[in-house]
Amino acid sequence: MSVTAKSLTATGLVAGYGGQPVLRGVSFTAHAGEILTVVGPNGSGKSTLIKTVLGLIRPIEGRILLDEEDITPLSPSQRANAGIGYVPQEANVFPNMTVLENLRLGVDFIQQRPAKRFDRRLEEVLDLFPEIRPKLSTRAGLLSGGQRQMVAMASALMPEPFLLALDEPSAGLSPRNAELLFKIISRIARTGVTLFLIEQNTRLGLGASDTGLVLVSGEVKLSGTASDILGNPAIRRLYLGGA
Ligand SMILES: Nc1ncnc2c1ncn2[C@@H]1O[C@H](COP(=O)(O)OP(=O)(O)O)[C@@H](O)[C@H]1O
Ligand SMILES: [Mg+2]
Repeated sequence: MSVTAKSLTATGLVAGYGGQPVLRGVSFTAHAGEILTVVGPNGSGKSTLIKTVLGLIRPIEGRILLDEEDITPLSPSQRANAGIGYVPQEANVFPNMTVLENLRLGVDFIQQRPAKRFDRRLEEVLDLFPEIRPKLSTRAGLLSGGQRQMVAMASALMPEPFLLALDEPSAGLSPRNAELLFKIISRIARTGVTLFLIEQNTRLGLGASDTGLVLVSGEVKLSGTASDILGNPAIRRLYLGGA
């Protein structure tokens, strides 16, 4: 499987609610095929940032580019058609539908990007998530939290997005399942997809990432290689509990 990943660039994003900025000039680039993880304390604007990338919030200032294309004017569904996949933190599967039906819906919602034949794409995606292969005819609501998260990610991957945005993918998972999920996330990146994720588990998220962004009070406090950020003494003290 080889999708051609696209980079995501934000320049000077100012965005918030009711004209009140939460993000106060956020810039970053997620390079094509790499994993960028945004970390930071509660209330720092992480969810606001992912919503702005998806077009659910219109920025007051700044631009968002997918490769060279300025997608700032596009609606959320136009961004999906442009190749941005999204897995929200909650309610990300249809619990009364089977796993296979969920995967089919992942393609049906995307109109302008006809994917390859469904069966062929299904095989490629199931290769990334071997755990859900035996569950295709199981109702998604009956799966474990970790398996549900895999179905949600698999569904978002069905239309072959260039970029996959994940909001707190490990939330509510056991440490073991969270680790497994991040192994899969690394595997997804290697198939030619850029990953942009928000993660509350700083060590796990940055540990699997190429690039990190520390967001504090709506500003980028620190950005760089994920390993530099993990090794930063102030970050270790503030967010990783220990020296
Ligand atoms: N729908 C909303 N309306 C008004 N303010 C909001 C809304 N959602 C979030 N906020 C405010 O924006 C700030 C950042 O929130 P959020 O982006 O959810 O942070 P994080 O995801 O990092 O915890 C907080 O002060 C929060 O109260
Ligand atoms: Mg949040």
